[in-house]
Amino acid sequence: MEEPQDLILLQRQRVYHVDLREILPTSTVYGRDIEQEVLRQWIVQDCCRIISVVGLGGIGKTTLVGLITKEIQNSFDYVFWYSLLQAPPLAVFMERYLRFLSDQQHTFLPNSLEEQFFLLRDYWCRHRCLLVLDNFDTIFQGRAHAGLGKQKELHIR
Ligand SMILES: Nc1ncnc2c1ncn2[C@@H]1O[C@H](COP(=O)(O)OP(=O)(O)OP(=O)(O)O)[C@@H](O)[C@H]1O
Ligand SMILES: [Mg+2]
Repeated sequence: MEEPQDLILLQRQRVYHVDLREILPTSTVYGRDIEQEVLRQWIVQDCCRIISVVGLGGIGKTTLVGLITKEIQNSFDYVFWYSLLQAPPLAVFMERYLRFLSDQQHTFLPNSLEEQFFLLRDYWCRHRCLLVLDNFDTIFQGRAHAGLGKQKELHIR
């Protein structure tokens, strides 16, 4: 009889951190089963580091990614959704994201961006994190991704 109790305890000890405040509420989503399956495979099974979802404006990129993010969120320790639509300064993003990753415990964040990136890398090395940057093209329009490791691109129509 002890085994099931241990199992429950372990499940309770696993704490998920999720900030999806910026995610838009979606009503019924039609179709997209194949795209969802592809993203699930790339993110959860293949552990792909970077995935771009590209397609015409209004085709349903945000809707698709919102759906899959909610579905797979329990596969991660930290899930954070952030919109770059207004091209917020990097410093604003870094402060919000680092505070989220530190469970709001960092009263003082490092001043320099370089030190903040070291801290960020440390969190990313120690935890499984999913970061969704919506409207990414706002800041990197026309530029190729730098060599950031295993990455894939899903074109949706
Ligand atoms: N599969 C779907 N089922 C139902 N509604 C959808 C679907 N895909 C998109 N929509 C609706 O179409 C509209 C545009 O979708 P969405 O914002 O996801 O597009 P987008 O590709 O992210 O656009 P943008 O390029 O402007 O960011 C939204 O109102 C959304 O609810
Ligand atoms: Mg969008």
